[in-house]
Amino acid sequence: MNNWSPSSWRDFPIKQQPTYADLEKLAKVEAELASYPPLIFAGEARSLKNKLADVVNGKSFLLQGGDCAESFNAFNANNIKDLFKVMMQMAVVLTFSGGCPVVKVGRVAGQFAKPRSADFEELNGISLPSYRGDIVNGIDFEEKARIPKPKKLLKAYNQSAATLNLLRAFSRGGMADLNQVHSWNLDFVKDNTLGEKYEQLATKIAEALNFMKSCGITSANTNQLSETTLYTSHEALLLNYEEALTRKDSLTGDWYNCSAHMLWIGDRTRGLNDAHIEYFRGIKNPIGCKVGPSMQEDELIRLIDALNPENEAGRLNLIVRMGAEKIGDHFPKLLAKVKAEGRNVLWSSDPMHGNTIKAENGYKTRDFAAILKEVEQFFQIHKAEGTYAGGIHLEMTGQNVTECTGSCSSAVTQEALASRYHTQCDPRLNADQALELAFMIADTLKEARKGL
Ligand code: PEP
Ligand code: CO
Repeated sequence: MNNWSPSSWRDFPIKQQPTYADLEKLAKVEAELASYPPLIFAGEARSLKNKLADVVNGKSFLLQGGDCAESFNAFNANNIKDLFKVMMQMAVVLTFSGGCPVVKVGRVAGQFAKPRSADFEELNGISLPSYRGDIVNGIDFEEKARIPKPKKLLKAYNQSAATLNLLRAFSRGGMADLNQVHSWNLDFVKDNTLGEKYEQLATKIAEALNFMKSCGITSANTNQLSETTLYTSHEALLLNYEEALTRKDSLTGDWYNCSAHMLWIGDRTRGLNDAHIEYFRGIKNPIGCKVGPSMQEDELIRLIDALNPENEAGRLNLIVRMGAEKIGDHFPKLLAKVKAEGRNVLWSSDPMHGNTIKAENGYKTRDFAAILKEVEQFFQIHKAEGTYAGGIHLEMTGQNVTECTGSCSSAVTQEALASRYHTQCDPRLNADQALELAFMIADTLKEARKGL
């Protein structure tokens, strides 16, 4: 790899970074982090890449989801467990109704650094540096809180390690057993029509499991029934943190980012000559890049060439986030170009980031109808081009929050947003809305996969 090292990004222009006052302290923290154990093993990143290659080849579907920004305050077992459960529910809906295996990737255990639309935030005539995620500074609108503190990198690492530990325990320790399919239904979802729809599906699965048990296939003798894998991912925005967790794999001699299985580049930091592209080209993990409405066809091909020069299936996930109003104008030409140039990429849809609006009462929100409309168009555009719509990328939580409006099951109105609006950054789908979307995608997916 030409002139690449884990720190070569430092010679390139970089966007969306904090300005640390004490650089000596920052260097000390980076050195300490670099001495800590990796959070994931390179072999796991390779197995995810293989699974994503299956998605590219139309054999499975990618479900990626979690918080917009994880928070130090909301760090507790229930939040992690409920995200795990709702991901399991969605996966089972997609697998059973959509007729397709699902690769599960959480926006979790490291999703702390945030790009912002402005460097400063203004309130009542006071201007302070913007909040950039708990790994950088504090969310409170106070001068002291907004100062970037290097020590937060260590706290983010520790929280990620504990989160990942619990997720691994849930995955292997019985929580993911298909015989638990009823127990994944969260209490507040249970009582509405959607909860009932899920219960019906869970009952069918339980019947199938019973039948298999009579044939001698049980979770005691078949790991596929009792265990799962939930991979982790985040936007690798704060490269000081990412560099410190970049390690040489002893088996292959290749460099891997060992802070998560998959990393992605945000829409605001994907400049071809910028630091993030430089960093990403040298790591061997499966990676993603957001594709917003400003992306040009040639620019996209050059980006693919920089990030996936060997045209390896499973290496690069293009995460389309255009907005329901723009996807129809902007996406078809990009898709046609990538197809014509023969590039192997995994296309997924992030129907969240192009559909953010401000409610009349000032809350940042997203309407379920717009989210759904973008997903539907994503599938239709693929159908017209004869390509495979491989996945979905969502901001969601297992909690009963009121951050996005609409949906049939939980009719959150703009007025109701204030009641349980807890996000640190962007509005997330609550468990109801996420599950409803999964049911809708399952129908579309089943249709799209006919003839594959
Ligand atoms: C995000 O995924 O939280 C995000 C900031 O997305 P984007 O880079 O697409 O704006
Ligand atoms: Co977001």
